[in-house]
Amino acid sequence: MSKKIASARISQESSKLLQELNQSLPFDKLLYKEDIKGSLAHSKMLQKQGIISKKEYKDIKNALKQVRDEIKTGQLKLDGDDEDIHMAVESRVTQIAGDSGKRLHTARSRNDQVAVDFRLFVQKNTLDIASLLLRNIDTFIFIASKHTNTLLPGMTHLQHAQPINFGYHLMAYVSMFKRDYERFMDAYDRNNYSPLGCAALAGTPHNIDREMTSKELGFKKPTLNCLDSVSDRDFALDMLYNISTMMMHISRLSEELILWSSSEFGFITLSDAHATGSSIMPQKKNPDIPELLRGKTGRVNGNLISLLTVMKSLPLAYNKDMQEDKEGVFDSIKTATLSLKVLEEMMAQMSVNVDNMEKACMIGHLSATDLADYLVKEVGIAFRDAYYITGDCVNLAESKGVDISELTLQDLQSIDNRIKKNILELLDNRASMNARDSQGGTATKRTKEQIKIMKKWLNKKVSFIEYQK
Ligand code: ARG
Repeated sequence: MSKKIASARISQESSKLLQELNQSLPFDKLLYKEDIKGSLAHSKMLQKQGIISKKEYKDIKNALKQVRDEIKTGQLKLDGDDEDIHMAVESRVTQIAGDSGKRLHTARSRNDQVAVDFRLFVQKNTLDIASLLLRNIDTFIFIASKHTNTLLPGMTHLQHAQPINFGYHLMAYVSMFKRDYERFMDAYDRNNYSPLGCAALAGTPHNIDREMTSKELGFKKPTLNCLDSVSDRDFALDMLYNISTMMMHISRLSEELILWSSSEFGFITLSDAHATGSSIMPQKKNPDIPELLRGKTGRVNGNLISLLTVMKSLPLAYNKDMQEDKEGVFDSIKTATLSLKVLEEMMAQMSVNVDNMEKACMIGHLSATDLADYLVKEVGIAFRDAYYITGDCVNLAESKGVDISELTLQDLQSIDNRIKKNILELLDNRASMNARDSQGGTATKRTKEQIKIMKKWLNKKVSFIEYQK
């Protein structure tokens, strides 16, 4: 039997098994800074409102700061019987501050306390992740700007389709990461409200000032409805969903990097720092990092589904089920943060095998669509007819073992004599890439335009990165 938790009502000792099932301290100790920050704001407000005396506030404040130092330096080990971080901090504060410490929990409950702590933690990490996304965007733009003229086979169904440039491909990921960034920042704004002072579920009869604690903690305003505020874990779900979507993007890129680094493609070479060997095959260099990033996406998706499932049938307000909200969020945040750091480093150090990319563009008759477009635009043939004429040219190239861009004028005219000499320059892959110069297209000129727009957008965010450093 072990030490009773917060219980005026329960006289019998708790079962050891209850203690083990119930205790969240082993994982929620991660929230100690937020817990102390919340208590500092709360006690300051209690004093200002005349609910506790100046001396009591001073004792509590000093004790809270001492506890923070003790935890930071490892002097206070959070490995005791306390049920959770809130009880652990409060009991140490009371040891230090004596009777004054017993007044700290006036006009609040652990229900609003945990809602504040967890939300502060999620909000802080939202900014950190958003800032790491900006760093990745910066790195991707830098690499893209060096490869706006590097040909790459653009694919659909993983089959060669049309020539694009490598910079353009990377800029597609920049667009995804920009949306991810915006999604995190939207969530930050949406959830930037303080639940402190909501108490157990219905507010409190004490004359508290929620505007003050909200401001102290850096929130925009106090939340509107206390019942909702202690029941709400949407901020955690937003975080999990945003991480899942971002990791899904990283996973798609990882899949491409894995393919591209294979001998079949040979488009990129990961630096030795980001690949591992095999324990048995001495010649091997494995792309473990992108494989792990791809794999970790499964894990963060699990965390999202897990919390959605925990929350789905809970009546208002707090239910102990909600203690299951933290570990998945901690895990997803840790995973996302590390993944973004690794991704940026790996991309910055990988080498791009330009020759192999360009050579691969000679497989698959990438400029076939250009021939069909030529027949429509220059000869006035209906697209469906042009499509079949082009098909015949592709078959001819196949039978000769060459790419469509390598057929001679005579070859092409043997299929359709309306084809004129000016087709030849159009079938060149680089010309084909540059011909796609509609807005948002792959033409070098258009890719550079996209880079310019993204750089401008990023520059406006630089002060944000600096602030995060
Ligand atoms: N450890 C709890 C949690 O993480 C704190 C809230 C406890 N509230 C309660 N009424 N038991 O959810």
